[in-house]
Amino acid sequence: MRELKILGVVIFFTALIYIGVEPFAHSQMHPHVAPADFEFKDLPKQTKTGDAIKGAENFMNAGCIGCHGLKSQGMPSPMDDATASASFGVVPPDLSSAGLIYDSDFLAALIKNPTVALKVEHKFSETKLHPMTQFYGLGGDIDQEIADIVAYLKSVAPKSLKNDEVFADACQRCHDMKYANKSRNSDTALLTKYMGSTPPDLSMMIRSKGDTFLKTFINNPQKQLKGTAMPRVGLTKDAQEQVIAYMQNTGDRKKSERESLGVKVIGFMFIFTILAYLWKVKIWREVH
Ligand code: HEC
Ligand code: HEC
Repeated sequence: MRELKILGVVIFFTALIYIGVEPFAHSQMHPHVAPADFEFKDLPKQTKTGDAIKGAENFMNAGCIGCHGLKSQGMPSPMDDATASASFGVVPPDLSSAGLIYDSDFLAALIKNPTVALKVEHKFSETKLHPMTQFYGLGGDIDQEIADIVAYLKSVAPKSLKNDEVFADACQRCHDMKYANKSRNSDTALLTKYMGSTPPDLSMMIRSKGDTFLKTFINNPQKQLKGTAMPRVGLTKDAQEQVIAYMQNTGDRKKSERESLGVKVIGFMFIFTILAYLWKVKIWREVH
């Protein structure tokens, strides 16, 4: 009977800490942030249906290829990485996969006003312009022209990409992933000057920050770190999941193994406790 009381006390305090104290401490250390918004509700919705054929022409006339490559369509980037870094502070990404990995409303908003879509208004102004120039239109209905460009980018995008390819297109112009032998293609000193801080290596980020943090951070860094230098990356839900899976696989390959081991250890302890108890009962029976 005495043992049962002790067990009861232990269970009570363990439950109190687990159900009461831990979630409270967690909520204090990681304040709640709204989940990722893959509809990009803060940006205007596209109202026009795009035409990919007109979009191909608009794309050429809008000057995108003055800065970006579109390798899948035989258009290499107009400058090498060193020259691009020197001109913009960062190497503009190749746009071959843009129509797959970025959300369409995000793309349209980005073309119209990069600082707003990227949530970096706090870093740029009339006198300090963002290196991606705003698209002012080709003389017709600007929203239609943009919708056409987005339709074109979607039409030339591949149907799917591997996880590391999404990472390469979305993050690697700024971030290293040393554990996977990947280095940024922008020049580090020039990028640091442009960004205001050096983007950290992401190899172990999945362990230090966890996937819950990453899920909201990539979609809107300002929600987690007010004033941060990192721009929003307007990935679709699928593309973001691929980036996180890639980070998981690089930084914490053994996670599933570890978790399944945990269950086995608890099972072992449980059986062992019963055996120890039966053994104790047997010893005491002999003593009395
Ligand atoms: C004057 C150069 C320039 C022009 C013109 C330009 N861009 Fe960019 N673009 C950039 C730079 C530089 C970046 C990277 C900015 C950064 O990472 O801070 C960028 C980034 C992007 C991105 C990645 C956005 C993200 O979320 O990471 C896309 C997509 C893009 N541009 C599409 C376009 C399209 C489409 C056009 C034509 C309508 C265009 N750009 C015109 C320089 C340019
Ligand atoms: C245009 C450059 C740029 C791109 C593209 C970019 N980042 Fe960053 N990132 C930064 C900078 C700069 C910082 C440092 C932020 C600071 O110091 O405020 C950062 C910080 C981070 C951090 C650390 C946040 C923290 O709490 O310290 C993570 C995680 C991260 N980025 C993930 C990503 C992922 C994943 C992608 C691709 C989906 C990505 N970044 C794309 C520039 C970039």
